Amino acid sequence: MKLNLAKSTPKDTQSQTLVLFLAKPENKKKLTAKNFSKEAQSLIEAELQAGAVTGELGETRLYRRQSVDGYQHTLVVGLGEAKSLDHEKLRRASAFAYRKLKESKIAKAAYDLTSALKGYKNLAEGCKALAEGILFSEYDFNDYKAKAEAPSFPQEIQFNPGALSSANLQKGLSEGLITAEAVNLTRWLGDHPGNLMTPKILAQTAQKKAQGTKLKVTVWDKARIKKEKMGGLYGVSLGSSEEPRFIIMEYKGAAQSKKPIVLVGKGLTFDSGGISIKPSQAMDEMKYDMCGGATVIGAMIAIAKLKLKANVIGLVPASENMPGPAANKPGDILTARNGKTVEVLNTDAEGRLILMDALSYATELKPQVIFDVATLTGAIVVALGNTHTGVFTRDTKLMNKIQDAAAAAGDPVWPMPITDDHVADMKGTHADLSNISSFKGAGSSTAAAFLEQFVGKDIPWAHFDIAGTAWNLANRVPYVQKKGASGAIVRTFVEFVKNQK
Ligand code: BES
Ligand code: ZN
Ligand code: ZN
Repeated sequence: MKLNLAKSTPKDTQSQTLVLFLAKPENKKKLTAKNFSKEAQSLIEAELQAGAVTGELGETRLYRRQSVDGYQHTLVVGLGEAKSLDHEKLRRASAFAYRKLKESKIAKAAYDLTSALKGYKNLAEGCKALAEGILFSEYDFNDYKAKAEAPSFPQEIQFNPGALSSANLQKGLSEGLITAEAVNLTRWLGDHPGNLMTPKILAQTAQKKAQGTKLKVTVWDKARIKKEKMGGLYGVSLGSSEEPRFIIMEYKGAAQSKKPIVLVGKGLTFDSGGISIKPSQAMDEMKYDMCGGATVIGAMIAIAKLKLKANVIGLVPASENMPGPAANKPGDILTARNGKTVEVLNTDAEGRLILMDALSYATELKPQVIFDVATLTGAIVVALGNTHTGVFTRDTKLMNKIQDAAAAAGDPVWPMPITDDHVADMKGTHADLSNISSFKGAGSSTAAAFLEQFVGKDIPWAHFDIAGTAWNLANRVPYVQKKGASGAIVRTFVEFVKNQK
């Protein structure tokens, strides 16, 4: 599908559908379509009077062959209350519009941006949200289904600036296209099944997608991983016939002297649990256990394409967790890259084992900040469900920055505790650490406390547990077509890097 910003009002309007956005007025005030043209106002006047069109978010009303301003059809889409309009509502309204165009088999449409964004606090961001609503909605993982014969709708959407500043809108649209494509890449990686997205394929895909950008991608194989003393990543991979990989993506957008931001993502391409095997119910979904890694890959590509002024390094330890003959056995002791030893009491707590080496390596890079993102614990799904990503850090300033970036990006996050008591629960009996807590409960916090043991003392660090949010349960939000990977936290990382001075 083509999406662009019109220079002026397009010429072939008669073959297009005009999409108008209608906001609800503040309490009890009369609903008016004040941002509509005279013709558009008179088109919907009767419905407004009758209360048949209200401007509610989720409302769509198609006027077929009722031409306004020379367009063929007119679609009116609700924005919800004018005063509470925000990026997420714009994203959703845009998705509702897209859905209606799709089901109505409309090929070409023009979004009237004046009706959506006039008076909005940030034009560029608003335009970006509208673009994201369309591109997220368009994503559908059907690479492995017989190709549909009929063309899909819509084929072209044009944004009409009207009297709004084209420069701001273009900036928002360009950014929106890059970030939404990166999010969709992350979703696409996550939606792939284990046999088609092995550690090797994940690494090759990262290399391929980085082509044409300034990213330098280095991939370590099994022998190198062993040589580099990554005992966790190496150990976890032994249960599988698929070799592990360690992916390093480097982006230099600032002076050499500027300390890098390091992003680490869990790239567990299939988690069977290993010898501590998982129940078979919904085990297929463990193909998405590499979503942390996919988030890092997506974010790195967006950061490079946006040419952000920062130095950023992405690290993805990638492995399968399988119960093969050489697999970790409960009780086995592994040695991490930083020399700490770990008793593997449950082979299903493998994410932290591959992350411990990546975090040790990240620490060696002397970064200004380290973020890790992982589908780490079932406990976070119990605590926060699929709506909020759990964020763990003891650094309140960093937490504030993360919350700001996440809010702007549209990724809901929630602060979670991490304390010395959680650290104490992770002490080992026969090794420095155990990979599971000695006590029941707080499984996400104790997992975070384990990871903290591999991060340098003075390095600001935050851990994002996306076990719930990396996966959309179904089409609960309008820009998601069906269950599958969500691309959570990609935009938060991009936004954070953008804000970092
Ligand atoms: N990959 C899982 C966590 C997970 C659970 C992700 C549900 C997505 C949805 C992780 O490797 C795991 O199995 N964690 C265990 C840890 C436990 C054994 C301490 C868990 O959460 O049950
Ligand atoms: Zn596991
Ligand atoms: Zn896992």
